[in-house]
Amino acid sequence: MLTVVEGFSKFSKEDKIDWIAKNCTSNADETKRLLKKYWNENPRTQRIHDEFIENTLSNYYLPFAVAPNFKINEKLYAIPMAIEESSVVAAASKAAKFWLNRGGFKTTVLGTEKVGQVHFMFDGNKTALRQFFDEVKPLLFETTSPITQSMTKRGGGIQDIVLIDKTQLLSDYYQLHCTFETVDAMGANFINSCLEQISKTFEAKARLKPNLLEHGENLTIVMSILSNYVPNCIVRAEVSCKVEELNDDELKASLFAEKMIQAVNIAKVEPYRAVTHNKGIMNGIDAVILATGNDFRAVEAGIHAYASKNGVYSSLTHAEIKDGVFKFWMEIPLALGTVGGLTSLHPLVKLALEILQQPTAKELMQIVAVAGLAQNFAALRSLVTTGIQKGHMKMHLLNMLSQMGANEQEKNELVVHFKDKTVNNANVRAALQKLQAK
Ligand code: MEV
Repeated sequence: MLTVVEGFSKFSKEDKIDWIAKNCTSNADETKRLLKKYWNENPRTQRIHDEFIENTLSNYYLPFAVAPNFKINEKLYAIPMAIEESSVVAAASKAAKFWLNRGGFKTTVLGTEKVGQVHFMFDGNKTALRQFFDEVKPLLFETTSPITQSMTKRGGGIQDIVLIDKTQLLSDYYQLHCTFETVDAMGANFINSCLEQISKTFEAKARLKPNLLEHGENLTIVMSILSNYVPNCIVRAEVSCKVEELNDDELKASLFAEKMIQAVNIAKVEPYRAVTHNKGIMNGIDAVILATGNDFRAVEAGIHAYASKNGVYSSLTHAEIKDGVFKFWMEIPLALGTVGGLTSLHPLVKLALEILQQPTAKELMQIVAVAGLAQNFAALRSLVTTGIQKGHMKMHLLNMLSQMGANEQEKNELVVHFKDKTVNNANVRAALQKLQAK
């Protein structure tokens, strides 16, 4: 049985591995061998990875791939993706190819505003609080200037600070709602540092303000933190073509266009479907976010909140046919960075950004949105024509064969064998057994 361990984070890496191997696994030698097998052979590279987080034992691999032929605003990109799901990169590449000769993807950044809030409780006079805020506001900007100086030089900084009365929702609850421009940085550390300084100044000055806290009133700063909900940090991605250009091997163009629109409309009104529909979009988005060293949890949280902005969880994509033109588009919030964070530390992140031709954060927003839109187009295209399993299981075939212990030659032969056959567990097992019996 596992016992409490004291001071684990202070153990050496070897001691941590020993402890885990001995206390949590049935074969300690095998565990140690496995963890070390995944170490980078270059100790300096390994140290970089060790230092990303605490208690690192080894590295956890994800495939790093690329989906080529994305035309975005007339410029070609090969998009790097880090993801484990077998069909995602193939689907992205297929959608890129499909739209390459139909005008490509068009994108626009509609806003880049980031948000952070100082949450506080105050049980005194509302008018006195508002008066105090108006007086102290210039000082809130002034006392953060050592933090904002270099961001201001790059064209960013704190855009505004607004006092919001939330006491209707929660008694005594107010906030300083702050908006930021962080240029090419995702800006989490910058925003949080600004917010902590703002809250310090605000609280200190409040204590000195006559008539605000003089009669036993309380003002308590609860917390200061950025918000991952960024509904004004928005990018739009779109594809369009004449309906008759939507020729698909499986369906007549007009029927295909109709079914695509029906599929989107279903996801607009049916949350069970919308969640899976949007999950498909996130397959593309997360893969690029991970490859470029951005925070996929922040992006996921913000996008799903945005998908519920009208009170019901709904499709992120939209589709229409107007004057014989099929249009498919999406607007999503994305707070991304191409400087700071992992971008200059993780060697593969650096490479991903180089493959993307060193994008600005705005360019990366557009590339990521395209990856999401392409992924949704590819998923819906399969769903309304052949069904998803045909392509999905084909891509999964190698995983299945590996699990069944097939060798390289058997894998090669069976990939050819299944080119025109249905892939499922029973069929693959039977074909492998037949081959092995030969
Ligand atoms: C699978 O990872 C994603 C899909 O389920 C998305 C969708 O259904 O739209 C194929």
